[in-house]
Amino acid sequence: MKRALVRPFRGKLEGTISCPRDKSLSHRAAFIGALSEGETVVTGFSFCRDCLATLSCIRALGPEVLPFPGEGKVIIRSGGLSSLREPEDVLNAENSGTTIRLMAGIASGIEGLTVLTGDESLRKRPMRRIIEPLKKAGVEIGGRSGDRFPPLFIRGRGKISSVHHVLEVPSAQVKSALIFATLRGEGKSVIVEPLPSRDHTENMLRYVGVTLYKEEKSIVVEPPQKLRALPFHLPGDMSSAAFLMSLALCLPHAHLVIKDVGLNPTRTGFLSCLERMGGKYRILSRWETFGEPRGDIEVEASELSATSIGPEEIPLLIDEIPILSVLAARARGTTTISGAGELRVKESDRLRAIAQGLTTLGVRVEEKEDGLVIHGPSSFRWGVVQSFGDHRIAMSFVVAGLLSEEGVVVEDVDCVDVSYPTFFSDLEKLGIQSIAFEES
Ligand code: S3P
Repeated sequence: MKRALVRPFRGKLEGTISCPRDKSLSHRAAFIGALSEGETVVTGFSFCRDCLATLSCIRALGPEVLPFPGEGKVIIRSGGLSSLREPEDVLNAENSGTTIRLMAGIASGIEGLTVLTGDESLRKRPMRRIIEPLKKAGVEIGGRSGDRFPPLFIRGRGKISSVHHVLEVPSAQVKSALIFATLRGEGKSVIVEPLPSRDHTENMLRYVGVTLYKEEKSIVVEPPQKLRALPFHLPGDMSSAAFLMSLALCLPHAHLVIKDVGLNPTRTGFLSCLERMGGKYRILSRWETFGEPRGDIEVEASELSATSIGPEEIPLLIDEIPILSVLAARARGTTTISGAGELRVKESDRLRAIAQGLTTLGVRVEEKEDGLVIHGPSSFRWGVVQSFGDHRIAMSFVVAGLLSEEGVVVEDVDCVDVSYPTFFSDLEKLGIQSIAFEES
């Protein structure tokens, strides 16, 4: 395991940079490629650890998967929806919740047995939320510990009954697992979403020709005959851009442009939050591909003030809460985050990990059952912070270290590969050379 020794950055942060391509979109483009008949070319694919796990699962179902990491490209050749076959071995989703849940939805429509597992963290994440609705749709599916956790087994029969389900948690992974399963449904399916969450699956499936529409809070899917193999060119990931943006917001005189970031409104809760906090950013240009807006973001040093983030906003910035908490510690006033209980069942218990890390750095923070109260403005004193093997926790505290008075040690930072393999080299590209590494 590697620890990062982060010294404060005292230089001027300036420049133009691209962040990694969107992880959520990469998973979905790969899965849709596997379900489409013909050759799907995905450019701007994220070769992070999570998305590599998705590619290896897809390969085990029969499609040809040709990765070109140097070009950020993947080609998937498939015989389509009905050509997917029972995998010979257990599939490993590693650390990726999106891989295991979306795969479970797809496997529901494959004839035969699929067994899905993952690493130690994934094997503790809740699965009943996908198992129950799929069971209701006639799928033989189960998991460890009374259907609570992976490993999961799915014995598909090539078809499922129609799905009629009201989501209990506003989770895009659960929604997407069900949408993928409905593609093999015997009739029209309806999924009701009490609060909007990221809608990439809906946009991308519509783009390849699936009849899918929204009626108020319901998503209606009509099982298709065939998905068209169309090219996808993916934008950068807002959830990764958020780390670079946060640095720029907090470093004096900083000015940064991040090229081509996805701006789907179900992913831009972080930007809305910045607006309320007085964070100065601008969208320099805006265009759209497969129904998803994207653009270049300019950001500069700002005086931040506290905000309050409530339950309806959580799904729109769920992955940005760790870095928003670092910003909140720097902001003037008290920030409250509520309705965020889902953070306890992510790659780590993120509410606990954030509260512990910030406390170590001298920030006054209260951990609530479903949120945090963070008192700012605070400087960050020296300390050793645990990442709990969670990529977003590790990157958030590396940012805190760069903003600190005396430096910060972040334990176990190898996990940044899960979403942002070039995190440290991107910081170097921006002239940040104040991070050293040590085996721990
Ligand atoms: C994701 C959805 C979110 C998010 C995760 C990626 C997706 O999870 O936290 O990192 O790609 O659908 P939930 O839908 O479980 O909240």
